[in-house]
Amino acid sequence: MCGIVGYVGPRTALPLLMAGLRRLEYRGYDSAGVALQKNGHLDVMRAEGKLDNLAAVVATHPSDGKTGIGHTRWATHGRPTEQNAHPHVDCTSATAVIHNGIIENFQELKAPLVAAGHKFSSETDTEVVVHLLEDELKTGKSLEDAALAVLPRLDGAAALVFISTTHPGTIVAARISNAGGVIVGHGKAENFVASDMTALLEHTRDMSFLEPGDLAVVTQKDVRFRRIEDGATVERAPKKIELDPVGAAKSGYKHFMAKEIAEQPRAISDTLLGRVDRTSGRVVFDADVKMTDDFVKALPRITFVACGTALHASLVGKYLIERLAKVPCDVEIASEYRYRDPVVSKGQLTIAVTQSGETADTLAAMNASRERGARLLTFCNVMGSEATRISDDVIYLHTGPEISVASTKAYTAMLVDLFLFAVYLAQRRGTIAANVAAQLLAEAFHLPTLIDAVLREEGKIRALAYRYTTAPNFLHLGRGVNYPTALEGALKLKELSYIHAEGTAAGEMKHGTNALIDKTLPVVAIALKDSVYKKMLSNIQEVRARAGIVIALATDGDTEIEQHADEIIRVPAVHELLSPVLAVLPLQLLAYHIADKRGNDVDQPRNLAKAVTVE
Ligand code: M6R
Repeated sequence: MCGIVGYVGPRTALPLLMAGLRRLEYRGYDSAGVALQKNGHLDVMRAEGKLDNLAAVVATHPSDGKTGIGHTRWATHGRPTEQNAHPHVDCTSATAVIHNGIIENFQELKAPLVAAGHKFSSETDTEVVVHLLEDELKTGKSLEDAALAVLPRLDGAAALVFISTTHPGTIVAARISNAGGVIVGHGKAENFVASDMTALLEHTRDMSFLEPGDLAVVTQKDVRFRRIEDGATVERAPKKIELDPVGAAKSGYKHFMAKEIAEQPRAISDTLLGRVDRTSGRVVFDADVKMTDDFVKALPRITFVACGTALHASLVGKYLIERLAKVPCDVEIASEYRYRDPVVSKGQLTIAVTQSGETADTLAAMNASRERGARLLTFCNVMGSEATRISDDVIYLHTGPEISVASTKAYTAMLVDLFLFAVYLAQRRGTIAANVAAQLLAEAFHLPTLIDAVLREEGKIRALAYRYTTAPNFLHLGRGVNYPTALEGALKLKELSYIHAEGTAAGEMKHGTNALIDKTLPVVAIALKDSVYKKMLSNIQEVRARAGIVIALATDGDTEIEQHADEIIRVPAVHELLSPVLAVLPLQLLAYHIADKRGNDVDQPRNLAKAVTVE
C-alpha cells in the first residue's frame, strides 16, 4: 500500500514527483524518498516520517534531473526509518528500485547475494531486487531485459519500478500480482507512472493500466508493454479518465475526514442519481450489471467478501437482501475466506464491497470464489480499480475520492447502493410488492435531506465528544440492522482516537461483555424506534444496573428514552432498513471530535493506510 510515482520528460522531475507523492501520501506515510538521474549518477534523497520531512531534505539538495521515481512507504518489512525508505540502490548506486507489496521469498534470494559479496543497507524485502538487477545488468542486458530476468524469481511482489544510470531516460515498471496496480500516464513528449491515477490527473487524462504480469518500458518518446512470462509485446491502449482533481482538495475543512463527513448529503444524492426508472418505478443499474433474469431468479446464495468498514456495510447488505430479496447471504472476512477451502454453491453470486478496489485480501477472496465457480459483483468507489476489472458486474458508489484513511462517505454510499441492490434483486425475483418498493425508494430519495439534518447537530455532538476524550474504553451496542452500526462506530472511534472500543450485538452482552461495565464505561446504545427498540431498552437497563454511562442514539420525538439515558443524540425517523445510513453519522462525528480534541492525526491515523494492498 505504498505510493509510487515516476516521471520522464523535458521538465525537472523533482517538483512533479513531490506533487505526485503529496497526492499519494494517504497510501503510506512512515517514510518517503526520490531518486533522479543526473549526469550519469543517481541523486537519491529519503526521509523518515511524513512527506514534509522529505520536502525539507530536497529543499536543501535540489536536483534538476529529468527522469525520476518517488515513493511513500507503509512499512511491512523493516522499521519505518530513513535506511528502510525507498528507493533502494545497488552496491554501485547506479540502479534504484521502488516497490509496493511484499517479496515473500526475499530471505532465500538474499542469502546467495550476500555470499557473493553484495552489500545490503536496509532491513527490507525490496532491496534484494536491486541487487539481483545489478547482476543482470553486469551481463550487458538492457534494463527491461534485466528486469524480465529478475521478476519471475520473485514471489508475491505486487508493483516495482526501476531506473538506472545505465539507461538514461528510461523507467521500467512491472506489475507482478493482482494487488498493487501500476498506471502509465501518457503526456505530450513526457510520460508518467504511478500507483494511483490521482497522482497523474493534473498532467494527463490518458492512462494505461498494467495487467498482472505486465512490464512497461517508459521513455519520453514512447511507452511499450511486455509480458513478464515470455517477454512478448502486448498492447495496453490508453483510456481517457474523466475525474475531477479539484474534488480531492480539502476545500477549507480542517481535515479531509471533516470534509468527507460534510459531503454526505451531496454524495448520497450522487449515489442515488439515475438509479430508479421514473416510469416503471424499478431500480436500474447501468451496463456494468449484466446478470440475466435466469441467473437472478435461480440465485441459491450470496457470499459477501470484504474488510473493515466495507465488511460492516456487507453485514447491513445481508440483512437487506435476505429481508427483501429472500436470498440467503453469508458475510465473510476476506482475509479468512481466502485461506479456507470455501464452499461455493452452483450458480452463486459473490459480492465484494470495497472503497478502493485494491484491498489485497478482498481481491484474493474474490479470486478464490471465482476459481470455485462464483459470479463476481463488486461495489466499488474507484473507477478502473483492480476489483472492478476482475468482476463480472460492477456497481459504483459515485461518492467522489475519499482521502481520509477513516472511511465515512464511502460507507454510507455502500449502504445506499446495497439497499438499491436489495430492492433491485427483489423486483427482479418478484419478492417485493410494487407499493412497498415505491415507498422504500421514496424514503431513500429523502435521505440527503435527513443526513443534512443530522449533520446540523454537529455542535451538540462535538460538545458531547469533548466530555469523553479521556475515557479509556468505549462500548457500542446495536441490534438488528444496526448491529453493524455498532461495529462501525467502535471501529471509527478506535482507529481515530486510539481509545479501545468494542462493538457488540446487544443481545450478546450477557454472555460476557457485561463484565466490562462499571461507572467509567461510556456505552453508546443505538436505540432507534424500530422492531428491536424494546429489546434495546432492556439492554440499556442492564448497563445502567451496573453503573455504566449510557449515550443513547434515539429517534426524534422519542420521549421514553429520556429516563434511560445519561446523554441523548437524536436522528430523524426513517424506515428501519435505511436507518443505518443516519445512525452512523453521529458516531462518525463523535469519533472525529474525540480524536481531534486528543490532538491525533485524524486523516492519517498511526499504523494505518488508506488502500491496504498487502495482506
Ligand atoms: O478499500 P476497502 O473498502 O476495501 O478498504 C477496507 C478497509 O481497509 C477499510 O474499510 C478500513 O477498515 C477503513 N480504514 C475504516 O475506516
